[in-house]
Amino acid sequence: MTTFTDRAAAILPGGVNSPVRAWNGVGGEPVPIASARGAYVTDGDGREYVDLIGSWGPAILGHAHPTVVQAVQQAAASGLSFGATSAREVELAEEIRGRYAPAERVRLVSTGTEATMTAIRLARGATGRAKIIKFAGLYHGHSDSLLVAAGSGLATSGVPDSAGVTPGTAADTIVLAFGDEDALTDAFAEHGQQIAAVITEAAPANMGVVRPPLGFNRLISTLCRNEGAVMIVDEVLTGFRAGPAGYWGVERDEDLAAGVEPWQPDLVTFGKVIGGGMPVAAVAGRADLMEQLAPLGPVYQAGTLSGNPVAVAAGLATMRLLTDDVYQRVAAASEALSGGVSEILTDAGITHAVGRAGTLFSLFWGLGVAPIAFEDVARQDTAQFARFFHALHDAGVYLPPSAYEAWFVSQSHGQAEIERVLDAVRAWAATEA
Ligand SMILES: Cc1ncc(COP(=O)(O)O)c(C=O)c1O
Repeated sequence: MTTFTDRAAAILPGGVNSPVRAWNGVGGEPVPIASARGAYVTDGDGREYVDLIGSWGPAILGHAHPTVVQAVQQAAASGLSFGATSAREVELAEEIRGRYAPAERVRLVSTGTEATMTAIRLARGATGRAKIIKFAGLYHGHSDSLLVAAGSGLATSGVPDSAGVTPGTAADTIVLAFGDEDALTDAFAEHGQQIAAVITEAAPANMGVVRPPLGFNRLISTLCRNEGAVMIVDEVLTGFRAGPAGYWGVERDEDLAAGVEPWQPDLVTFGKVIGGGMPVAAVAGRADLMEQLAPLGPVYQAGTLSGNPVAVAAGLATMRLLTDDVYQRVAAASEALSGGVSEILTDAGITHAVGRAGTLFSLFWGLGVAPIAFEDVARQDTAQFARFFHALHDAGVYLPPSAYEAWFVSQSHGQAEIERVLDAVRAWAATEA
């Protein structure tokens, strides 16, 4: 009998439309998902799972939130795409700026990849320089110059870099170890006037979740300012998820509490949450830089479906629902789940560490201390994670199928869902210990 997986593999390369959806990192065959609601996804056979993928970030409210669904239905009934500016695009951009002050101007695009690609082009156009610095293990989408040492999807499938990226393109990308202050300072000393930008995830979340060492983001900001380079902070994953003002907001609040002037990104990219599950992303930042974009300036960027009215309706409805109360619930779920899992593993003598940045977290398998650099992350016991993944899947919990991913919780992950996950972890730990 032809299975769904056979049928998918016969038409979609690898049976998927994005590599992390395949189960290369854990083995076995993914089940097709039929629907999702709240904290749950349901597969084609009607099996329900507590979902810890959350569409890889967007589903912070839980799936199919009625207010968001209604906004989408209403928008769709008024036309699927205009190809001209509509009021909600302005409202969504204002909503972003209202929560994230460095986003003085906002350009909506459809994917995080487009956002970071545009930010790089903008930095190069504004500075007239070619080189960019990125950090090993951090993922910024799949545009050529950023597909170097690029984190989870590639680490999971064992592809160090992508074929098809020319040496010429890669040559302008300087890759440094995340958190290595000396390497960063040295790179600026060596290439200072050639560096257009440093791009970094506000907190890395594509090699597991890593809290940046104290002062590292500030050092990037200072070096960029001193050398006339652009600091691009990628908040596609962390934005409006790690906290109400992304991970930048977490550090800003800590700085303010300590009486220190917060550092500021020059450009910032968003995605995931700002589309509420629909294709919306954004590049934003300092007005003088953003106004280098066409039609005001010489840096070209465009999109037939950019600011699509139906997608923007989902994003706007989602953002408007993101109250302090939602963030408190997400934080509580994250705390209860990460703390609960860690306690069970500790009791069973299973070596692990929890990486945390704001409300985001992930588990590191076989490591006693939460790592910072990718070379340490890569020492994880991925075989142990694969056993864990399958045990939890059999027990009705859908984890990201990779040891390098965050566990995504939502405001809908309440006591019952957390207990179901912890019961599954307990049962697995008993067999593993
Ligand atoms: C930090 C970061 N930047 C950029 C991207 C790319 O976004 P997209 O998949 O929407 O192209 C991702 C996707 O996971 C991401 O996590």
